[in-house]
Amino acid sequence: MTHKSALAGQYADVTDKELRDFQSGQRQSAVMQAIIAGRSDQDLHDLAVYYASLPLPAAAEKTRAGEGPDATATRLVMQGDPQRNIAPCAACHGQLDRKGAAPWLGGQSAAYLAAQLQAFASGARRNDINEQMRNVARQMTPEEIDAVARYDAAMQ
Ligand code: HEC
Repeated sequence: MTHKSALAGQYADVTDKELRDFQSGQRQSAVMQAIIAGRSDQDLHDLAVYYASLPLPAAAEKTRAGEGPDATATRLVMQGDPQRNIAPCAACHGQLDRKGAAPWLGGQSAAYLAAQLQAFASGARRNDINEQMRNVARQMTPEEIDAVARYDAAMQ
């Protein structure tokens, strides 16, 4: 199940938007689209509120014993990289501030997070309003994507 996103504790506006995006095909997933085809907006909203009411899952992955968080990942998450026009992830994703209905990333598996970043970078995923995530992910190296994915997966 490592490629699934965890919905428990997720902000309701995030799940609401993602469910609608799956339903409309804005975000591609044959599985999700089939499951929620024909559900009303109210059903999707109720589902999102229900998931938001559940406790956040524990961190999906642990940092290895004796290892602190990766320095590259910590810098990108907390400070971004102004030279490459990367805003701090934490300024949108909730640790410092929350903008643009960005999801809470803790509790997701590193494999899922890395796959989403790669999909934004390649444009395979393009349901982010104003290309907020595509603009970030396109600037990241594969090593940075892996490091940040592991950092976020180790966060609750
Ligand atoms: C300007 C605000 C902003 C910044 C900065 C930002 N994000 Fe995002 N991110 C978003 C938004 C909004 C979404 C949701 C897009 C959608 O699906 O509508 C998102 C989605 C994601 C997702 C997909 C999550 C999922 O459950 O599918 C990942 C992973 C992610 N961001 C990681 C990052 C990382 C890592 C950084 C820093 C290197 C970062 N983001 C910086 C706004 C931002």
